[in-house]
Amino acid sequence: MDQDSNPKRTGVTRRGLLAGSAATVALANAHALADPATPSPAPAPATVPVSLNVNGTKHSLKLDPRVTLLDALRERLGLTGTKKGCDHGQCGACTVHVNGTRINSCLSLAVMHEGDEITTIEGLGLPGNLHPMQAAFVKHDGFQCGYCTPGQICSSVAMLKEFDQGVPSNVTEDLENIVFSDEEVRERMSGNICRCAAYPNIVAAIREVHGGGVA
Ligand code: FES
Ligand code: FES
Repeated sequence: MDQDSNPKRTGVTRRGLLAGSAATVALANAHALADPATPSPAPAPATVPVSLNVNGTKHSLKLDPRVTLLDALRERLGLTGTKKGCDHGQCGACTVHVNGTRINSCLSLAVMHEGDEITTIEGLGLPGNLHPMQAAFVKHDGFQCGYCTPGQICSSVAMLKEFDQGVPSNVTEDLENIVFSDEEVRERMSGNICRCAAYPNIVAAIREVHGGGVA
């Protein structure tokens, strides 16, 4: 021990130093609270009334306006078929239909959907009354863990509708004559990631539904 750090010589102890530091911090905090220039903590967010029409049922909710449609569906309505993968628009697990169009529900605020027709995987079909696309995914083993599957199915149903309406994709060569192909399916479904890589089976399921199979 050197001369200056010996408490017997300096009269300074470790306990005394710590107590002094704590008092200094407390004093600084007190000053910060008293200083009108220091921002005060944000008040608790207000809620707003929102009416969501989901799978044909109207739900009246009060939500923080920052709540995403995905969180409203899962946390407030208990519709946990819609999955949260990345929560920032990169995986497609949260895909639902809004007025028949597919969207990533993690990128959309619930308050933006007052009066919209929202359809989740539960609204497409249920055990005993599956949507043809759900039945095709089962038939072709279009999943392994199943986490991406609700998003894949919602996306593929809307994608086929887009195709039938003549909406082109990045790989469409002839805008006058859009040919259904695996390449078209893969491109149009590229926003839905499958970590289990069940892609060949997913494409097979979609092909069958497009061809009118799997009732
Ligand atoms: S959870 Fe919405 S895109 Fe991944
Ligand atoms: S089936 Fe596992 S992520 Fe697609």
